[in-house]
Amino acid sequence: MDAKLQITVNEQPWTVTSTRDTPLLYVLTNEMNLHGARFGCGLGQCGSCSVLVNGVEIRSCITPVSAVEGKSVTTLEGLATLYAKQNRLSNPPGLHPIQQALIDEQAVQCGYCYNGMIIKASELLSKTPQPTDMQIRTAMNGHLCRCGTYPRIMKAIQRASRMASKVTK
Ligand code: FES
Ligand code: FES
Repeated sequence: MDAKLQITVNEQPWTVTSTRDTPLLYVLTNEMNLHGARFGCGLGQCGSCSVLVNGVEIRSCITPVSAVEGKSVTTLEGLATLYAKQNRLSNPPGLHPIQQALIDEQAVQCGYCYNGMIIKASELLSKTPQPTDMQIRTAMNGHLCRCGTYPRIMKAIQRASRMASKVTK
C-alpha cells in the first residue's frame, strides 16, 4: 500500500486521505475545512478555486493533490500570514492589503469570484508592487466576475499597491 500523501497548506502539514488524483480543491474543502477557494466552473476557466503554490497562482479544481506534494500551498485563509512573512512584518495584519482595499472600494457584490481575484492580485503585488494598469489587466485576465465589478477591482488593486508601499517603507 502506498504511503499517505503529505502536503503543506498554510504552513501546516496535512496527511491526505483522498486518492492522489483527487483535485486539490476537494481536499482543501472536504478534508481540511478550508472554504476560501470555491468551486465555480470546475474546468480551470473562471479562477474562483485559485490558491498559491510556492507563491504562484494555480487552479485547484484541475490540479491533482499529488502535484503539490513537497510544495507550499497558501489559501485565502493563510494569505495575511504569507504577506507578513514576505514583508518581514512581526505580526500578520488581520487582512491582506488587497482584502482591505476591496472593502474600502466597496468592490464586492455577490463575492463568488473574490477568492480568485484576491489570490491573483496578491501574486501580482508580491512580484510587481506597483503595477501599471496594463499589468493589472494582464494579470487579472482569466478571472471571471459574473457581476462585472472589474473597474472596482482595478481600483482596489491600485489602492492595495499604495497601502503596501506605505507598510513596507
Ligand atoms: S472552479 Fe477552478 S477555475 Fe473555475
Ligand atoms: S462579485 Fe459576483 S462574481 Fe464577482
